[in-house]
Amino acid sequence: MQELHWKPEKKSSVPLHQQIYDYLKRKIMYGEWTVGTKIPTQRSLAKQFDVNRSTVVYALEGLIADGLLQTKVGSGTEVVNNTWSLLSSTSSPDWKSYVSSGIYKPNIDMIQEINRAEADPTIIRLGTGELSPDLLPNKKMAEIFHDHYDENFSLGYVEPKGRLSLRQAISKYLHSKEIVASPESILIVSGGLQALQLISIGLLERGSTILHETPSYLNSIHVFQSAGMNLLGVPLDMDGIKCDEIEYLKRQREAALLYTIPSFHNPTGAVMSESRRAELLKVSQNASLPIIEDDVYRELWFDVPPPSPLKAKDPQGNVLYIGSVSKTLSPGLRIGWVVGPEPVIDRLADIKMQTDYGSSSLSQFAVEKWISSGLYEHFLKDIRAELKARRDFTLQILQNYFSEIATWNIPQGGFYIWLQLTIDTSTRTLFERALTERILLNPGFIYDKQNHKHLRISYSYASMEQLESGLVQLAQLIKQKNTRFSPSE
Ligand SMILES: Cc1ncc(COP(=O)(O)O)c(C=O)c1O
Repeated sequence: MQELHWKPEKKSSVPLHQQIYDYLKRKIMYGEWTVGTKIPTQRSLAKQFDVNRSTVVYALEGLIADGLLQTKVGSGTEVVNNTWSLLSSTSSPDWKSYVSSGIYKPNIDMIQEINRAEADPTIIRLGTGELSPDLLPNKKMAEIFHDHYDENFSLGYVEPKGRLSLRQAISKYLHSKEIVASPESILIVSGGLQALQLISIGLLERGSTILHETPSYLNSIHVFQSAGMNLLGVPLDMDGIKCDEIEYLKRQREAALLYTIPSFHNPTGAVMSESRRAELLKVSQNASLPIIEDDVYRELWFDVPPPSPLKAKDPQGNVLYIGSVSKTLSPGLRIGWVVGPEPVIDRLADIKMQTDYGSSSLSQFAVEKWISSGLYEHFLKDIRAELKARRDFTLQILQNYFSEIATWNIPQGGFYIWLQLTIDTSTRTLFERALTERILLNPGFIYDKQNHKHLRISYSYASMEQLESGLVQLAQLIKQKNTRFSPSE
């Protein structure tokens, strides 16, 4: 709703306020802004239209006078009529109440704000968990399609578990990670996120409790909560999730599942040690507690690979394993996989068929070619080297500008540095101030509601120049008094 890809024509003979009036009226007239829709603030409209606030006020006053908008004290301006309802006696549906009653929970406001800001190419994104566009293999991708255009690739729906030849390629690839999984126990999904969605609606009852590391990527998405689950955080140290209380929590809170990101954890970058992995598997077996192992960052190691996946030591089938090419090859392909006991995979495949009839057949074709030709392995070597250079560069900037205001870990792979601010700073205020300077941050409270000390810094997305200028500016902002902690937070 806040996204307006339009600006008034400054050279036009039609006054700016009139153009704005016409534009907003059209939005209301064509039903894009229905009755009850809150319109952006005057300040943000002025910013988006690149005009003075008084010009916006003038246009809004016209719409208020027409009876289309109304300003309510304390809740801003909203649409109260549309041109149809002014003309006819029947009113349009109350979309506002539909929107707030949907089963799926909305993203927290800050994540919605981050998602919107990410669409602005002029913003420096210091927290984005994605490979930089420069690192994505566009040319090679085009070559793959070109070289194989005469092959019989399907443009139709593919089978429920995904293209067999891709599952065979993934089965072989997983074998090199010590995971034994036949194609029948692999389901191709549209990214790791969809795997979580399918698990939440396919395997769990409403009201179930999910254990997870605190902080966690899981807190930044609402898949489980939207399906009626409760999340329960378990502390984490640099060896991974702490296991001491898991059995107790399983019993006390009747936990249904444990979600973990053992390798290059999002957002802390932690790698679960080999001994902690063994401990976790033992706890999971003793307590009959299934594990979701989210391993989407595994391949992004710098000097040595992380310890073997939990799934590699799981002959009992306690672990559902998630992989994806989003962090390594291309998030836009939307291809990931889930590995687990066959009845579970059959169930998830059935739900996937009911939801989307399968992931893109073109993307599946491309990923199969990348993996089976060995190109993927080759490309990963380049990506690791690039990410390592970016990590070193970022650490050097932190050393130069942040040593008096923060501490941080040295990640051994993945995308993230978990930066802990050591002076009292409000990360919410910092987020807002930084955004006005066109720097986008990922504050720690997205990953743990109680956390007001950390920022997730990602060296994977912004260019080196942006990383440098953005971080230097950020250090200055942190040192300013007006971003300091306020007692109301
Ligand atoms: C731990 C983790 N799992 C899953 C995902 C989503 O991956 P995909 O793009 O494959 O859906 C992310 C993305 O940030 C992630 O950090």
